Amino acid sequence: MTASNEIPPSPAPEDSSPSTRLVEVGRRFAQRIDTVNMPVYRGSSVLFDSLAETEAAGKAVGVGQRHASTYATVGTPTTFALMDAIADIEGGGVACRAALMPSGLAAITTALLAFLAPGDHLLVSDSVYGPMRVFCEGMLARIGVETEYFDPAAGDEIAERVRPRTRVIYLESPGSYTFEIQDVPAICAMARARGIVTMIDNAWGSPTFARPFDWGVDLSILPLTKYWSGHADVLMGAVVIRESLWPKLWATVRQLGLCVGGDDAFLVLRGLRTAEVRMQRHQQSALLVAQWLATRPEVARVLHPALPTHPQHTRWQRDFKGSSGLFSIELRGPTDAGAQRAALVALCEKRRHFHIGYSWGGFESLIMPARLNGLRHVAPWAGGPLIRLHIGLEDPEDLIADLETGFAAMATALG
Ligand SMILES: Cc1ncc(COP(=O)(O)O)c(C=O)c1O
Repeated sequence: MTASNEIPPSPAPEDSSPSTRLVEVGRRFAQRIDTVNMPVYRGSSVLFDSLAETEAAGKAVGVGQRHASTYATVGTPTTFALMDAIADIEGGGVACRAALMPSGLAAITTALLAFLAPGDHLLVSDSVYGPMRVFCEGMLARIGVETEYFDPAAGDEIAERVRPRTRVIYLESPGSYTFEIQDVPAICAMARARGIVTMIDNAWGSPTFARPFDWGVDLSILPLTKYWSGHADVLMGAVVIRESLWPKLWATVRQLGLCVGGDDAFLVLRGLRTAEVRMQRHQQSALLVAQWLATRPEVARVLHPALPTHPQHTRWQRDFKGSSGLFSIELRGPTDAGAQRAALVALCEKRRHFHIGYSWGGFESLIMPARLNGLRHVAPWAGGPLIRLHIGLEDPEDLIADLETGFAAMATALG
C-alpha cells in the first residue's frame, strides 16, 4: 500500500537478481478497477513516498483523523470502509465515529477502559451480558473502579444512585436472557444533565430496529458477530461514539493495539448489505414462534418485548422500530433440580433444526438454557427453567414442529 497513485516501474531483468525480482514484481497495477465491493486489503506495513508524507500521516493518526493510516493496525481501506458504514448506519443523523474491535466483548471492555479511571463509580443494568460483569468485577475492580447494578427495568429514578464519581451508566436494552427494557431516553437525559457518559449494548435491535443515538446515548456497543455480519462466520465488535468523544476512545484503542483484519472486515461489509431483509425475516419468524409458544401448556411465560404481555411492552413500542429473532421462554412444571434437568435435556437435545450453541444473530436457529446463578444482584431470577431461543431464517413451521417434538420428548422424560 502506498499513499501515492504513481506506479513504480518494475525492475528490468538486467537490473536485479531473480530473488530481488521475486520480491518486487506484480505488486502494483497501472489501472484501478472498480468493483462493487471494497476489495480486501491484507497488509501490515503502509508505504510512503517521502518522510514528510510519513510525518503528516503520523500526526493525522495521532488525532484520529478519518482514513489516516501509518500502519494496518490503524486501518486500511477495507477497515475504513466498514468503520464509515457502521458510523453512518448506527449514528443515523448524528455525527459519529466507529472503532473496530476483535469481538463484541472487546468493544465493551475498551469502551469502559476509555472512560473510567481509578476511584470512579459505574452504574450497570443488572441483566447485562454475563462476561461484561466478569470484567467489571475482575479487571475494573482491580484498577479501583466500583460497579453498582440497577434494576434492568429502570428509568431515571436511578439518579438516586448517582455519586460524585459516577462517570458511566451502562445499559443493555433488552437485557440478556430476561429481556427487560430500560427507559433509555429518560436515563440519558438524566445522565447528560450530570455530565455522565451513557453507553448501551445495542446487540438485539441493530442494525434495523433501534436508534440509540436518537434516544440520547453517547456510545453504542455493537457485537458485529451477531446480526450485522449475520452468518456465524466472523467475530468482531464496534464502538460507535459521538464525534466529540472520539479522541478519548481513539487514544485507548491505539494504546491497547486493538484492530481487525481485512478479511473479517470484508465479511461484515458483505453481511450488512442483506441485514435489513434478514432482520425482517428474523422478526416475522420469531413472532410466529413466540406466539405459538405462548399457547403451549408447557410454557409459563414468553419473554419477548414485542408481545403485549411483556412488562415493558409500551416502552418497546415507543422506542423500537421492530424486534429481532432472540427471546426466552420460562418452562412451567418441574420444581426439583433433577426433573428440571431432565426436561431441559429432552427439550434441547437432538432437535433437527435448533442447535445448542452460544452467540446468536446468524442465519441458524439456536437453543440455550440460561444459567443465571451469580449473574444477577438486583433482580435474581425466581422463575422456572429459562431457555433462550434464536430464531433463524428457516421456515418457522419447521421450527415449530421441532419444538413440538421437543415438548413431546419432555413429557415422556417427566413420565
Ligand atoms: C448482548 C451481547 N453483547 C455482547 C456480546 C459479545 O459479542 P462477541 O461474541 O462478539 O464477543 C454478546 C455475545 O453473545 C451478547 O449476547
